[in-house]
Amino acid sequence: MKPIRSPILRGLGAGVGVTGGKFCKKLRDLGVDATIGGANLTLDELCNHIDDAKTKKKGRGKLGVNLMVFDRQFEDLVQLCDEKIVDYIVMSAGIDMNLIDKINEYKKIKANIIPKLSTPIDIIKLAFNPNVKEIHVEGGEAVGYLDVTNSQQLKSTEEIINDSFKGIVGKIYMKETKGAEIDEAYIQKIIDNYPIYQRKYKIAKLIACGVPEKDYKSILQNGADGIGIALEFIVTKEGTPHDDWKKMQVKANDTILFRSPIKNILGQALLNDYIRNYFELKAGVYVPKEKFNYEGTKFCEKMCMQPDFCEKSNAVNKANMDYSFCLRQALVDTAINGYVNYGIVFSSENVKYINKIPWLKSVVNRKLQLLKSLK
Ligand SMILES: Cc1cc2nc3c(=O)[nH]c(=O)nc-3n(C[C@H](O)[C@H](O)[C@H](O)COP(=O)(O)O)c2cc1C
Repeated sequence: MKPIRSPILRGLGAGVGVTGGKFCKKLRDLGVDATIGGANLTLDELCNHIDDAKTKKKGRGKLGVNLMVFDRQFEDLVQLCDEKIVDYIVMSAGIDMNLIDKINEYKKIKANIIPKLSTPIDIIKLAFNPNVKEIHVEGGEAVGYLDVTNSQQLKSTEEIINDSFKGIVGKIYMKETKGAEIDEAYIQKIIDNYPIYQRKYKIAKLIACGVPEKDYKSILQNGADGIGIALEFIVTKEGTPHDDWKKMQVKANDTILFRSPIKNILGQALLNDYIRNYFELKAGVYVPKEKFNYEGTKFCEKMCMQPDFCEKSNAVNKANMDYSFCLRQALVDTAINGYVNYGIVFSSENVKYINKIPWLKSVVNRKLQLLKSLK
């Protein structure tokens, strides 16, 4: 077990305005890093959100933007973040190695590029990449947007952190000893003095995302450098979503997996009429019915994804629709417009622990105190 250092507390990005600029400013003012959910936004929208999130308050948290690598405008959005000087860009639903490799070419970018990953092999490899300072590690408890299309592929964040940390320590050992036979005492020395080796080899910090509070201690002792949170920050009085959306989260105790139209990636949501009526359960995953006939379906207007990834909900493909819903719209209809039975209500396993709608400040203080008590 390695000693817990000063863990990072980070608000994670929730798409299409749920963690928008104004909400992020509130979080930053409380001293917590905040991430604008930037996926599917237009350049103008993202620009406004970044302006809204600016704050001069002392002790403020950092500002980041979460982008999906297969967003049609991914490169332009990155460029905009560069120009607006954000602190970090989270890269979700895949890895763009090109961006990681050329990060030093950006003129102003001080931003860390933070991949959001769920496979130890990728995590171990990227942890040693000098251009990667932090990695968001997210397992099956969280909402989704991982590059996972099969429920058997899902592991818990804690399991992924444990496996990744073991791999990182193993790699340090190989570097230190130039490949000598395994010496358990030496490996323990590396674990006990991990911060020294982390600095020496410029190893990325691992932020564990979507983890329940009861597991913070063990996850921080076993390799994580921080905790990332979305749902518990959003279901607060200050959170952007519609009250009915928040109330539904408070009532719920469980989530289901559904297959999203974007590259068939799995997402986690609450079971509502929309899922009951228009999806069917196959191998533990709710899949849109073959004849998907939700009358409120709005066809893609924004073309926010690269064409190959979300093709079947595009208006141009009306003749060939088998997963005919737009995830962006399905999120906006529930979270922003409050039609909680007419779209996807994203959620995570942490919904089990949410039983009221508190003030954001009280949630943040509880988390900060808990992290402090673990040091
Ligand atoms: C309403 C909602 C929308 C989300 N949208 C995105 C998104 O657009 N892109 C993304 O990478 N993750 C998205 N997430 C996932 C969060 O960034 C985060 O990784 C996850 O929710 C962590 O688990 P937690 O909510 O239990 O803390 C979303 C989460 C929620 C609750």
